Amino acid sequence: MIRTRVIGSGAYMPANIVTNDDLAKRVDTSDEWIRERTGIRQRHIVAEGEKTSDLALAAARAALQDAGLDAAEIDLVICCTTTPDETFPATATVVQARLGMTRGAAFDLQAVCSGFIYGLSVADNMIRGGQARTVLLIGAESMSRLLDWSDRTTCVLFGDGAGAVVLQAYEGKGDNSDQGILNTKLFSDGRLHDMLYVDGGPSSTRTTGFLRMQGKEVFRHAVTNISAAISASADGAGIAISDIDWFVPHQANQRILDGTAKKLGIPPEKVISTVALHGNTSAASVPLALETAVRDGRIKRGDLILLEAMGGGFTWGAALIRW
Ligand code: UT7
Repeated sequence: MIRTRVIGSGAYMPANIVTNDDLAKRVDTSDEWIRERTGIRQRHIVAEGEKTSDLALAAARAALQDAGLDAAEIDLVICCTTTPDETFPATATVVQARLGMTRGAAFDLQAVCSGFIYGLSVADNMIRGGQARTVLLIGAESMSRLLDWSDRTTCVLFGDGAGAVVLQAYEGKGDNSDQGILNTKLFSDGRLHDMLYVDGGPSSTRTTGFLRMQGKEVFRHAVTNISAAISASADGAGIAISDIDWFVPHQANQRILDGTAKKLGIPPEKVISTVALHGNTSAASVPLALETAVRDGRIKRGDLILLEAMGGGFTWGAALIRW
């Protein structure tokens, strides 16, 4: 049975760090409020002129180096982003060119904060379907470009960054002991548009627009939806939640991470949390958290890892991987 294995990972954060105290100088907020309500202490923000493709390229190069691969060996580049450099062409094609690739295919995937989970599912299906052997999957965002910096209810929550993985086909046995992606589950409910959206776009306002969110409503749905996705993915792979070694959640709010872990009986020490240092980096948040735990040695080859995310749309999903 063909499986999709992660053979390398990398990340990149913009150099510029903005603390909660920095934000308190711009809007009516405080370090105490932000930390208590979200767990966020700081976020990285792109510099003037720094683009999503710059972040994506740096993360992609790090992942390729980790995999020991040359860009020429990549068949497909998927960039999961909601903040592309331009409306078109896809940021993935910019990365493709800057990596010096002259073959293969590249496209962007838009599922907002769930982008990386959707990307894993798409890449896995393309690999198992024989359309690609080696895929570069990137989650890259410049969320700061979508923020209304006068709106304290949203501008304190998000950050910029990029994470990437190199995925490759290999012949597994077809059971749960295989390395690689064991299961992905994707969901969406477009009726919930108004709870989290950007109030602009090429075919509506011809502007980029600003992120708008009914935070309380999103919070209310988050724990329920994420828990259901995790259970569906574990059931789909025939794995008990207690057998999972690491949970790598979307990093939106520490209280959502804690609530989900509690609901599913997951011990807090199994939950990878980077929200304090990164804020919510949308499609970059899961690969950034993953890379953090791989680099610091917590996640090891053979470990069972459950990734999950939820975002605008709503979209949500989960993926179960044996590292
Ligand atoms: O990536 C996926 C999507 N996003 C999420 O998952 C986010 C989900 N939602 C959340 O994380 C939380 O709902 C927030 C962090 C956004 C808000 O926390 P909350 O505990 O739901 O607070 P709230 O919206 O109920 O606001 C409480 C109070 C309000 O004041 P009043 O009406 O009680 O006087 C807000 O105006 O806090 C006020 N407030 C702030 N105060 C200081 C809202 N934002 C701020 C702020 N600083 N930045």
